[in-house]
Amino acid sequence: MIALDQKMAPGLLDIEHLERSAIEQILDRARFFQPPPNDSYRRLESLKGKTVVNLFFEASTRTRISFEIAARRLGAETLTIAAQGSSVSKGESLVDTLNTLAAMRPHAIVMRHAASGAPHFLARHLKIPIVNAGDGTHEHPTQALLDARTILDHRPSLAGLRVAIIGDIAHSRVARSNVHLLSKFGAEIVLCGPPSLLPRELADLAPGVQLSWDMTEAIQGADVIMMLRVQLERQHEAPMSSGEYFRFYGLRLEHLNFAKPNVIVMHPGPINRGRELSSEVADSQKSVILNQVENGVAVRMAVLERILS
Ligand code: CP
Repeated sequence: MIALDQKMAPGLLDIEHLERSAIEQILDRARFFQPPPNDSYRRLESLKGKTVVNLFFEASTRTRISFEIAARRLGAETLTIAAQGSSVSKGESLVDTLNTLAAMRPHAIVMRHAASGAPHFLARHLKIPIVNAGDGTHEHPTQALLDARTILDHRPSLAGLRVAIIGDIAHSRVARSNVHLLSKFGAEIVLCGPPSLLPRELADLAPGVQLSWDMTEAIQGADVIMMLRVQLERQHEAPMSSGEYFRFYGLRLEHLNFAKPNVIVMHPGPINRGRELSSEVADSQKSVILNQVENGVAVRMAVLERILS
């Protein structure tokens, strides 16, 4: 699926190296998997006999559970291993943990890790497809895919859309994956955050990416506002207080007047109300945050099916 190295098993490591045509196929297949309103996901058998291991070295609710549901909806068996409950907590190295798991012959490993590039490293060592469920500050490919699926549920195309991505850009793998994906489809991207969380080199991620420290400027004419979590666990300097951050970079109802009338508000979660956005915005008609969560299952079904069938 990704041709970083022809000897690597097909997996999903990042959006940067994923062809636009592959993204379109995943998004189309995810639409097929979306359940009708007020109905549940259909159960299929296309991955019957396959085993998917979810290996999470960092906390997760949405990604971990939606990968589990996605695999089961396709008939696969899943096992989830969290670092805290495994031999990683006894000092086992990443390679030894992965070799141990590989010896049990799963068909794919879904992995989240705090180190950027950890899934790429493993993909070079193991013959099993690796799916990146978020690596450090690098990428979160299935998040960008589900975000694109959600935008396309509200707009006919990504081309020409103005997307403002606001918050802790410096530490955000979600922002990086979204910039790669949206730029492949011709969206106009503005990255906005406090100067300490908006490194200038991020403008080089893709052609035409704009940077702004001014939230009102970033939101002006936006079709999509994508808020990001403040990643306190990755910040090494004293962070802004929650109140100060909210004052300058928290999304409130009055901000939405600067955007297009049919703007949608997104957030990958978990959300921090009163820091990244107000409850009025999070619970408003403009918010598609729970649609994102729902689409996480359909997109991950499409990804697992593509890799394993
Ligand atoms: N969006 C996201 O990755 O959420 P989790 O950390 O809960 O998986």
